[in-house]
Amino acid sequence: MSAKLAIVTGATSGIGLETARGLVTAGWEVVLACRDVVRAEAVRDMLRASDRSAQVSIARLDLASFASIRACAASLLQQHPAIHLLVDNAGVFSDRPTRTADGFEATMGVNFLGTLLFTRLLVPALRTAAAQEGEARVVVVSSSAAAFARLRPHPGMFADGPCGFPGYAASKLALVHGAAALAAELEGTGVSVNAVHPGDAATNIWRGHSLVMCIVGPVMRRVLKAPADAARAVLHVAVAPDLAGVTGAFFGVRGERLRAARYDDLTLRAGLMEQANATWHPS
Ligand SMILES: NC(=O)c1ccc[n+]([C@@H]2O[C@H](COP(=O)([O-])OP(=O)(O)OC[C@H]3O[C@@H](n4cnc5c(N)ncnc54)[C@H](OP(=O)(O)O)[C@@H]3O)[C@@H](O)[C@H]2O)c1
Repeated sequence: MSAKLAIVTGATSGIGLETARGLVTAGWEVVLACRDVVRAEAVRDMLRASDRSAQVSIARLDLASFASIRACAASLLQQHPAIHLLVDNAGVFSDRPTRTADGFEATMGVNFLGTLLFTRLLVPALRTAAAQEGEARVVVVSSSAAAFARLRPHPGMFADGPCGFPGYAASKLALVHGAAALAAELEGTGVSVNAVHPGDAATNIWRGHSLVMCIVGPVMRRVLKAPADAARAVLHVAVAPDLAGVTGAFFGVRGERLRAARYDDLTLRAGLMEQANATWHPS
């Protein structure tokens, strides 16, 4: 029997690398969807070195470019008609104003717009896997930072948005809503979409150029838990048998449901998705 196929975005370091490692160890065929192919090749070779039977390949994906996202998704759909698991792990914390290739603030552009566009483009293959196997899963790596976000949907919000922590928190709240919106759209298809906060871990995300990040970043990378520990929370939502059929949820580190009025705000969700759609399909 052939292995089930998982795509993991941002698998060159941190939680994504450990999630990919966990899936390979569990016998999954894994595609590392990464912007830096050279670093991805090093990860692939490392995974193959520790398991000769590992099935690992690479897809070039820059979530800061709609053109790259569309090209990557088209190529994946052509090579893999059925995708059983998508882990939307890639993310950035940008503490200085940076723009995506399409002109959006980079934190929101990568973490929310790019990630959700990529996910939506892969839906046909996720649906095929669900039809064949009974289910397929999307796990969106968000953050408890979402609890501190301020989001007010309006035209131009993705170009005007803040960077730094306000932008990061907003992008992670947007991701919770984007995941829930897609979960509702896919209700009854066997494709589940859930978000997860993996817990704070010592990874490259704790880097930046501001004075605060230069001081706080190195401390965080010393005191926080290992990326492999955070990956466990992601892997749980990705493969736990008791979560089959569960969709539209936001899970915490221990698999608990994270609940707050802001995660269920349907007016915010509708406005957000309307603005996101306008960026993906400009009139
Ligand atoms: N670490 C924490 O404390 C923590 C807490 C809550 C949530 N999270 C979330 O966990 C996820 C993984 O982050 P991490 O902590 O493991 O940090 P990380 O080590 O910096 O990993 C981030 C990954 O995302 C990739 N990435 C960044 N921009 C990209 C782009 N434009 N296109 C494609 N890939 C891109 C990076 O690729 P490069 O190697 O090319 O930079 C890297 O592989 C993120 O979504 C983060 O927000 C982390």
